[in-house]
Amino acid sequence: MQQTEKKARENWGSRFGFLMAAAGSAVGLGNIWRFPYLTGMNGGGAFIVIYLGCILFVGLSIMLAEFAVGRKTGLAAVGAYKAQNRNWTFAGALGVLSGFFIMGFYPVVGGWSLAYMVKSVTGLLAAPEAIGDYFGAFISAPVEPLVWMVIYLAINIFIVAKGVAGGIEAAGKILMPMLYVLFIFLIFRSVSLPGAGAGLSYIFKPDWSVVTGQTFLAALGQAFFSLSLGMGCMITYGSYLNKKENLPSNALTVVTMDTSVALMAAIAIFPALFAFGVEPAAGPGLVFVVVPQIFAQMGGVGVLFSVIFFLALTIAALTSSVSLLEVVVAYLMDEKGMERKKATYITSAIMCVMCILSSLSMGALSGFTIFGVGFFDFFDILTDKIFLAIGGMLLAIFVGWFMNKEELKQEVTNNGEVSFGLFEAWYFMVKYVIPVLIAVVAYTGITAIAQKSLMIFGLLVIVVLAIFSKKL
Ligand code: PFF
Repeated sequence: MQQTEKKARENWGSRFGFLMAAAGSAVGLGNIWRFPYLTGMNGGGAFIVIYLGCILFVGLSIMLAEFAVGRKTGLAAVGAYKAQNRNWTFAGALGVLSGFFIMGFYPVVGGWSLAYMVKSVTGLLAAPEAIGDYFGAFISAPVEPLVWMVIYLAINIFIVAKGVAGGIEAAGKILMPMLYVLFIFLIFRSVSLPGAGAGLSYIFKPDWSVVTGQTFLAALGQAFFSLSLGMGCMITYGSYLNKKENLPSNALTVVTMDTSVALMAAIAIFPALFAFGVEPAAGPGLVFVVVPQIFAQMGGVGVLFSVIFFLALTIAALTSSVSLLEVVVAYLMDEKGMERKKATYITSAIMCVMCILSSLSMGALSGFTIFGVGFFDFFDILTDKIFLAIGGMLLAIFVGWFMNKEELKQEVTNNGEVSFGLFEAWYFMVKYVIPVLIAVVAYTGITAIAQKSLMIFGLLVIVVLAIFSKKL
């Protein structure tokens, strides 16, 4: 059953409700777990400057474009493209595929966070010197991380199958502000540690000599990942948005909230990291190694703070992964006529298998590679370095070249009621600058990257989708 006709859309109960949902999707593991370790692996300050450039020149404009497409069509990603032009259905489908693959590793890290919440109470902080080794042993174990991943995924399934994202949003309303407060506190602790100055210079004094084509691609991919862009998630959220809402100001608020959390995470982590003598390029374990060490130095109250921190991180992760799962489920429901529960169970069963492979690639399956990388990296690199950036580029081309400029203007300005002086500049960016910029960054990044066969595979997948566009 194909359903592309416009249905009556429910709207968000309040502006706050929408902002919390969109920011809830954006703020997640990407900001707190991924951003700091990518910064460490890409040389520090220079990466942050390039990242901020990507947010300002690409992310913000794409966020507004996704909101506008969603609200104008009143449809989720695939439907929104399809309604305008059937040849473009593949761009929406690519987004669905991105969501699907991100869910091949995201719940693994969500499970780590859940585990650390419990471990904070059961002795993790008692031996600060062992925290680093502990993390390595934990994630490479054959069974324990799988159990936590399954619990984490089950929470997602429960929420999405019941269609009760409201509950998780309510939790987010309390825990997200708490996360902010906790970060401010962590920053104070971290910068006052002996030797913290080196960490501050590391992130605030860019060393440009470490920058390569790959740095730009990593920063661009991270910008898309962190803002939940390039896969239609914000198109879907925009489709529920009230016609009276000011789109540019909502886009700016979500982007600012997301970026401030990422920066706070970096400012909290790097000074402590240098103080404790951890390697900046240590990789995915950064937040799980450095943050517990800060808390471990604080005695009993540290345990409490650590529990709250990992609870807040888990909730932040949940509000993001629920939106990822929902993108896939919504596609199966809207376009393939599948029932919500069935769609949720089938998709998450496959996601669970992908996550088992990802988790085991840290230990038992570490010798096994596809396209030169382990499963975890396969899902991660494929989505974040190829699919999201290309997804964003396709959206920009679609909006700039296949939508009517006047209608877009009416949509973005609420028929002239909202003054948006930057409309022409935004339109120019979306139509000309962003597609070229992404193409150049993707080209230089892909030629500089070690995993070339994986990149070619990713591009081939997109070509195949495009060929079968009308069938999707
Ligand atoms: N933005 C989320 C994070 O930073 O953790 C991840 C994500 C969620 C990406 C939803 C894409 C998406 F559609």
